[in-house]
Amino acid sequence: MQIEAKNKKHVFLRRLNSDDFGNLFDYLQNLSAETKNRFGPHKFDRQSIIDFYDLKTNLGYIALTIDTKEIIAYSILKIGYLEHDSGRLLSYGIILDNNTDSTFAPSVADLWQSCGIGNKLFQFILSDLSKTEVKRIILWGGVQMNNEIAVNYYNKNGFKTLGQFSYYGDNYDMIYEIPTNIL
Ligand SMILES: CC(C)(COP(=O)(O)OP(=O)(O)OC[C@H]1O[C@@H](n2cnc3c(N)ncnc32)[C@H](O)[C@@H]1OP(=O)(O)O)[C@@H](O)C(=O)NCCC(=O)NCCS
Repeated sequence: MQIEAKNKKHVFLRRLNSDDFGNLFDYLQNLSAETKNRFGPHKFDRQSIIDFYDLKTNLGYIALTIDTKEIIAYSILKIGYLEHDSGRLLSYGIILDNNTDSTFAPSVADLWQSCGIGNKLFQFILSDLSKTEVKRIILWGGVQMNNEIAVNYYNKNGFKTLGQFSYYGDNYDMIYEIPTNIL
């Protein structure tokens, strides 16, 4: 799917596949230290990328420039929930289900942040999920409270805050219930 970013550049959105791994490696290496610190569902070396996508419940979504085919945004959507986060989620009264829950981690290249790509890629993921049983999207390890752009981004996209926890600083757990008219 092709979209126009706020900077008027045209960008293509699609699912990641194994042919993209080299390009994805370059994308991850080029992220700033701050963005790397905010986004870390898997390690950034080549083998870790391959191992991560060996698990078929892990789906990747990318935005690419039309002209250079460079990856400029990368989001992960895992079908199911993380055992690591399940204790906290249960403590909020959430009944977890590996078929209907999913876990989400977004990133956008530094030079492309605040250009509307994160919003558009999230909408693209929602439309892709309409072919699955998934009904809820939970943040991967929550979001750091001081990550103002990400907190705004999740609020803007309809995520609700479940609670707070402390892990290398203060964080929110957030969840999105997919409206039935999208499913
Ligand atoms: C968080 C992130 C994925 C958002 O993607 P993005 O493409 O930059 O965001 P968008 O331009 O689509 O903007 C989405 C919303 O985020 C908020 N936002 C974006 N830029 C902002 C800024 N500079 N200041 C405050 N809020 C901002 C706004 O609410 C915006 O909605 P609006 O433009 O409709 O008002 C991206 O900034 C990013 O990769 N950040 C670093 C990694 C990270 O923090 N990942 C999340 C870990 S939990």
